[in-house]
Amino acid sequence: MKRPKITVVGAGNVGGTTAQRLAEKDAYDVVLVDIVEGVPQGKALDISQAGPVCGYSTRVIGTNGYVETAGSSVAVITSGIPRKPGMSRDELLATNAKIVKSVVSELVSRSPDIILILVTNPLDAMVHVARLVSGLPKSRVIGMGGILDSARMRSFIAAELNVPGPDVEAMVLGGHGDTMVPLPRYTTVKGKPISSLMSKDKLDAIIQRTRDGGAEIVGLLKTGSAFYAPSASAVDMVEAIHKDQKRVLPCSVLCEGEYGLKDVIVGVPVRIGRAGMEQVVEYELTAEERTALEASANAVRELCAAVDRLMA
Ligand code: LAC
Repeated sequence: MKRPKITVVGAGNVGGTTAQRLAEKDAYDVVLVDIVEGVPQGKALDISQAGPVCGYSTRVIGTNGYVETAGSSVAVITSGIPRKPGMSRDELLATNAKIVKSVVSELVSRSPDIILILVTNPLDAMVHVARLVSGLPKSRVIGMGGILDSARMRSFIAAELNVPGPDVEAMVLGGHGDTMVPLPRYTTVKGKPISSLMSKDKLDAIIQRTRDGGAEIVGLLKTGSAFYAPSASAVDMVEAIHKDQKRVLPCSVLCEGEYGLKDVIVGVPVRIGRAGMEQVVEYELTAEERTALEASANAVRELCAAVDRLMA
């Protein structure tokens, strides 16, 4: 049987690791694209050569062009410049908008049925760029932010309580940036509310560390940003699509009235299946949570307006 083709654009740390994780699923053909000569080819060869040892037979192709991407079912877009220590994600706007614009038109012209997963920062604004350039329906342009932010929160809680990470459920909504909205009311460990398991002070500290989670890693690495958890989160989305899992995951999508948000791209819980983003799932929010989500949406709106000015 023919395997679905997944294109990964950007062969840096996030893209390379995404290609590796996809190869290890032994369920896809993987195309790794980058403008830097030799790097996607080299990484693709290296990942292929791990196959006999790890037990997968995934075909991985590295290329500097887009011909090989034709007929992709999903693309994970990671290309762009990463943050340097002290930089916010928003400072990447102008450079990365240009890159994402050209990548998306190359992809969509060769794969009209493609579903785009955006990873490039500033994330929510890049989803906006990809929608504008591609003209694809909102169900097929999805940003990876909330899964990563939630995973960070889950991992901090797991370490604090000495419980397994997978047993911790957390939901972080809003933009993938300083205004993200962690929801302690929907944070549980095997069904137990987090408020019954740790003090408010401890939880507040974890929420703050989650907000700063990306910057903490940028500060430690000094050259580049996180890639293990971001790639794992992107691959989670690819799997949810291809296995038609209908999982509810926080992702960045266009809201058209859900949560009272009109025409803005922001992280909300969505159902992910074969058609991409199949539904925005509405959780009941308190007035305070709603206000925080609106504030985050407004921050994204400003960034998208700035992108529109740049692209005009
Ligand atoms: C982070 C970057 C990838 O949060 O946005 O680490």
